[in-house]
Amino acid sequence: MDALSTFIGLSYLVAAALFILGLKYMGSPATARRGNMLGSIGMLIAIVVTLLDKQIISFTWIIVAMIVGAVIGAFSAKKVQMTAMPQMVGIFNGLGGGASALVAIAEFYSYLSPETTAIMTMDVSITIILGVLIGAVTFSGSFIAFGKLQGFISGSPITFPGQQIFNFLMLIAVLVLGVVIVAFNASSLLFLLVVIIALIIGVNLVIPIGGADMPVVVSLLNSFSGLAACAAGFVVSNNILIIAGALVGAAGLILTQIMCKAMNRSLTNVIFGAFGTGDQAAGSTTAVGDKTARSVDSEEVAMMMGYAQSVVIVPGYGMAAAQAQHAVRELTELLQKRNVEVKFAVHPVAGRMPGHMNVLLAEANVPYNLLLDMDDINPEFPHTDVVLVIGANDVINPAARNDPNSPIYGMPILDADKARQVIIIKRSLNVGFAGIDNPLFYETNTSMFFGSARDKVQELVSEIKKL
Ligand code: TAP
Repeated sequence: MDALSTFIGLSYLVAAALFILGLKYMGSPATARRGNMLGSIGMLIAIVVTLLDKQIISFTWIIVAMIVGAVIGAFSAKKVQMTAMPQMVGIFNGLGGGASALVAIAEFYSYLSPETTAIMTMDVSITIILGVLIGAVTFSGSFIAFGKLQGFISGSPITFPGQQIFNFLMLIAVLVLGVVIVAFNASSLLFLLVVIIALIIGVNLVIPIGGADMPVVVSLLNSFSGLAACAAGFVVSNNILIIAGALVGAAGLILTQIMCKAMNRSLTNVIFGAFGTGDQAAGSTTAVGDKTARSVDSEEVAMMMGYAQSVVIVPGYGMAAAQAQHAVRELTELLQKRNVEVKFAVHPVAGRMPGHMNVLLAEANVPYNLLLDMDDINPEFPHTDVVLVIGANDVINPAARNDPNSPIYGMPILDADKARQVIIIKRSLNVGFAGIDNPLFYETNTSMFFGSARDKVQELVSEIKKL
């Protein structure tokens, strides 16, 4: 091994260590920025060192691509709305998968070139097929997920008779073709067929899934894009690509599992269950049986909260939809000035994407230490004077705990109903994402504060100022 290879190897080791440290720091909102920075530095080292590789013949195209990519990346990162983050991640995954597939395709055709004397060994052809398969599925699947989230494609599950059988046959076909290519050493036409079938599988995998389940799918595709990069790393024998790909693959899979667990759904149910429509499931309710919900005005709510000792705020999808986070921070500061203890209860799947509430509250400069996870806050609800629910619904639905017939029975929830007073800000008695009634709206300790989240919180701020 010459000095340059040793330097490259050692630099890759440093980059890999930075990736792992970065992931560790990203585990908490307080250190996430540092984690992101460490990961970025690791990637910069990996890229610069890779450019020293002797096999690079021309830098022209690499530099052009880097400039174009950097401009597009910087522009979209600045422009993207927080609520459009899932679709942006979706595109990134798709492009990552597509890039890995292209690396594998280029490598395949390099072996077919008349100038090449090298023979494609079995291990190389297997990694090429895997790279193309996973990369192309990720590419087409991610773009369908993007289309659904952006509203270009219907958010409702798109299904057709025999869809599962069709998918299964496609998968078998691609595996058989893969084995034939590996065993009989390549045919350009068969390889092209693998690419096309893989693209169709990607589309078919995502179209039957409802728009609101897309964040889980995006997370799964994120994991796939990592695996595709890992396969591409094996194809071109690049260690840092293998390591980075494996880390992304594992992290994406863990996140997918966390999301499924918090929704009390299996991954199979998300993928094959055709559950969830667009942004909000259809249906509405006004009363459960003969129970009616009690409605309150801002003056009453201000009295309850302004004179409480402890308040827990439960943010949900409605806070994001109404962009109420800045008003919520103002309310928090106002209450703290009145010596009211304020905490936030953050459910792992509140909103529509992982960390949705954390990101919004951080954007509004709500201190991290006020944000408590479900397991930490749940024991505190019985001792809490007032819970203020802002546009959350499913994550506080006691049916998940009490009603074995409920579709969300068994989903871990925030025990907001156990507090002395529960105030719920939402526009109506309509259902949330899961499309089911919430008995909490009709409890004697619950008051509905009807209206859009931002307006209602702003009204509350003005009323509390008057106390
Ligand atoms: P949801 O159960 O979806 O309820 C949100 C509520 O917000 C709705 O009932 C709606 O009622 C209200 N709302 C909408 N716009 C509003 C506005 N402008 N002002 C005030 N309220 C508004 O939300 P959640 O409690 O956050 O639970 C999240 C759900 O999404 C869970 O079922 C979860 O499984 C699912 N999910 C989450 C994720 C991730 S990763 N977070 C991914 C996929 C699915 P009104 O119409 O009456 O106002």
